[in-house]
Amino acid sequence: MNQNLIVTNTIAFVKQQLTGAEGGHDWFHIERVWKNAKLITATEPGADLFTTELGALLHDIADSKFHAGDETLGPRVARQFLVDQQVLPEIIDHVEQIIRNISFKGGHEQHLFKSAELDIIQDADRLDALGAIGIARTFNYGGFKNRAIYDPAIAPDLNMGKAAYKNSTAPTLNHFYEKLLLLKDLMNTATGKKLAAQRHEFMVVFLDQFHAEWNGSK
Ligand code: ADP
Ligand code: NI
Repeated sequence: MNQNLIVTNTIAFVKQQLTGAEGGHDWFHIERVWKNAKLITATEPGADLFTTELGALLHDIADSKFHAGDETLGPRVARQFLVDQQVLPEIIDHVEQIIRNISFKGGHEQHLFKSAELDIIQDADRLDALGAIGIARTFNYGGFKNRAIYDPAIAPDLNMGKAAYKNSTAPTLNHFYEKLLLLKDLMNTATGKKLAAQRHEFMVVFLDQFHAEWNGSK
């Protein structure tokens, strides 16, 4: 099957799989990540565009956050789909590794798999966690989980392991300090770093304004 057709089929499959998804992890999140991944690939000549597109499109299929913590489901669903599409086995293996290794989960995990394509998709996914869209997604997720917006008595925890990160019920504003403000220093590619710096600054301005309003000084 030709690669363009497989990408088209993947888009249709992902849209259908994500019907009814939480607003920050829906098809439009995937579409933004896919577009940013293509943009970054243009400045990373070593990366294979087809693998990057498949990885970006499939990276949040059956996200463990929404499937009782099961981290094996997403890679399995993606593999079966790609087998059905008759994608080359080495590309399927690579996409599966990308899906297994992309997530932040507190940032303290030792990831063993590395590739140019994973670096790109991880940057594209992280960019969507930053800036105006990052802010919108974060409060949507907090609302979805019925979390407080902010509670000055509950301080951010910067040393959460994977389990604590996954089980955290802290106010949504803490997520900025526990994850989002750390991302700009974790970017892999030059293009990713440049875009992240700009989006990071926007979040810093937002947080300053938030605290000023909270304290009645603006
Ligand atoms: P993970 O951090 O587990 O890899 P994702 O990368 O899927 O999770 O997170 C994507 C987005 O979902 C985050 O950038 C944020 O907007 C939202 N999100 C995830 N966890 C939280 C949380 N604890 N509080 C608020 N938003 C969250
Ligand atoms: Ni994602």
